Amino acid sequence: MKKIYIKTWGCQMNEYDSFMIRNILEKKINCKNTKKYKKADILILNTCSIRKKSQEKLFHQLGRWKILKKKNPKIIIAVGGCVANQEEKKIYSRAPYVDIIFGTQTIHKLPKMIYERKKNKNISINTKLEGIKKFNINTLYKKKNLSSYITIMEGCNKKCTFCIVPTTRGKEISRPYKDIILEIKNMAKNNIKEITLLGQNVNSYFYKNNICEYKCTFSKLLHKISEIEEIKRIRFITSHPKDFSNEIINTYKKIPKLVNFLHLPIQSGSNKILKLMKRGYNVQRYKKIITKILKIRPNMKISSDFIIGFPGETKKDFYKTIKIISEINFDNSFSFIYSKRPNTIASKMIDNITLEEKKKRLYKIQKILAYKKIQWNRRMIGTTQSVLVHKKHEKFSKKLIGTTENNRTVYFNGNKNKIGKIVKIKITKIKKKCFKGKIID
Ligand code: SAH
Ligand code: F3S
Repeated sequence: MKKIYIKTWGCQMNEYDSFMIRNILEKKINCKNTKKYKKADILILNTCSIRKKSQEKLFHQLGRWKILKKKNPKIIIAVGGCVANQEEKKIYSRAPYVDIIFGTQTIHKLPKMIYERKKNKNISINTKLEGIKKFNINTLYKKKNLSSYITIMEGCNKKCTFCIVPTTRGKEISRPYKDIILEIKNMAKNNIKEITLLGQNVNSYFYKNNICEYKCTFSKLLHKISEIEEIKRIRFITSHPKDFSNEIINTYKKIPKLVNFLHLPIQSGSNKILKLMKRGYNVQRYKKIITKILKIRPNMKISSDFIIGFPGETKKDFYKTIKIISEINFDNSFSFIYSKRPNTIASKMIDNITLEEKKKRLYKIQKILAYKKIQWNRRMIGTTQSVLVHKKHEKFSKKLIGTTENNRTVYFNGNKNKIGKIVKIKITKIKKKCFKGKIID
C-alpha cells in the first residue's frame, strides 16, 4: 500500500481541499495517509499565494523534497493550490523534478494524473478552473474532531485591487444546496457538532435550481443547515461588508446556532484607501452594519483583517485605521503588510512608502490589536460563556477542554459525558492563553 504525505499552507479552504485530496486518493488508489514525509511514496504540497512570502516558501520546500527523490526516484512529487494556478510554468522550469502540477479546481483529477505519470513518465499538468466538479467526492468523516470545515462556494467576482484570489480560484461558483446539506448530515452522523462554512465571499452564495426555479441565498442556506439537529454551532468565513445585507443580518435574530462571533474584514479605516482598494463600501457603511448586528446580538465579537501600507496610505490614513480599531473594539484580528501581487490593479499603483515605515506601522497596529484581545480576555472573566466541550484534558483526567463562541480555549472540571455538548461555563481565571471556568448548569 502506497503512503501519501500532504503539506498544506494558507487558508481554511486549502485545509478543506487537502482533506478532500486525502479522501479521493485513499478511495481511488490503494494508499494511506502518513504524517512522516520521509516514509511517503507520494508527496503533495498544497500552496498559498495570497502574499509574496507564502509563495517564496514553495521552492525551498521543493529543494528539500528533491533530496528525497534523488535517493528514491520512484517518489512522486505533486504541487497544487494557488501557486500552481498562478505559476504553473515557473514551477515546471525551476523544479523539473516535480511530477504533477494540479490546480485549486482539479483535485478530483489527481488519481488519474498519478496513474498517467507512472505510465508515461511525462510531467502531468492540469490547472484548469473546472468549477464545481471537484466537489463530486464522497468525503469520509472519520475524524476525531467535533468541528469541521465545508466549502459552500469558491472563487470571487469582486476585484479588490490588491487581491490575487480571483485569478487563482476563478469566478464565484456556489455548490448545490442539496449537496451541502447532504455532506453536513454525513458529518453529523460522524459526530461533528460545529461547522464552519467556507467561501471567499460566503454571503454572495447563490444557487438556482433550474428545474423548479428555486433560488437559495446564503440566509436560506443558513436556515436549512440550522434545521440539522445534531449540528450545534454554525460559523462562516469570509464575508464581505458590501454584501452583508439586512437579510443576512436578520438571520442572527432567527438562528441561535449562529455563533456570537463574526469575521468581517474592513482592510482600512480610510475611505480614500478603501476606494483605491475598490472594496465597494466606506467606513460609515461598515459601522452601520456592526451597529445593526450589535442591536440584535449585544454580545457579538467582531474580528477583522487589515492591510497596512497599501500604495498611497499616508500617516493620516493609517491613523484612521487605528481610530476604527478603537471605535469597533475588534477582537482577535489579523494584519498584514501590503504585498504586491502579479497582474493586480494595485501592482501598477505608485507605492512610495518605505518598507521600514510599513514595518513600523504594522508593529504599531499589531500591538494595538493584541491589547484589544487582552482587554476582551479580561472582560470575559466573571461572565458566563457558551462552550462546546471537545475532549478530556490530556494531563488532568477530571478536566475537560472546550471552546467559546469567540474561539477561546477553556478548561474546567466535568464528566466526560459532557463531550460533544454545549455547556454554560462561568469564566473564573485566565492562565497563560487559556481560561479556567466552572460548569453552571
Ligand atoms: N475574502 C477572502 C479574503 C482573502 S485573503 C477570503 O477569505 O478568502 C485574507 C486576507 O489576506 C484579506 O482579508 C486581506 O487582509 C489579506 N490580503 C489579501 N491580499 C493581500 C495582499 N496582496 N497583501 C497583503 N494582504 C493581503
Ligand atoms: Fe480577494 Fe476581495 Fe475577493 S479580498 S477574495 S477580491 S472579496
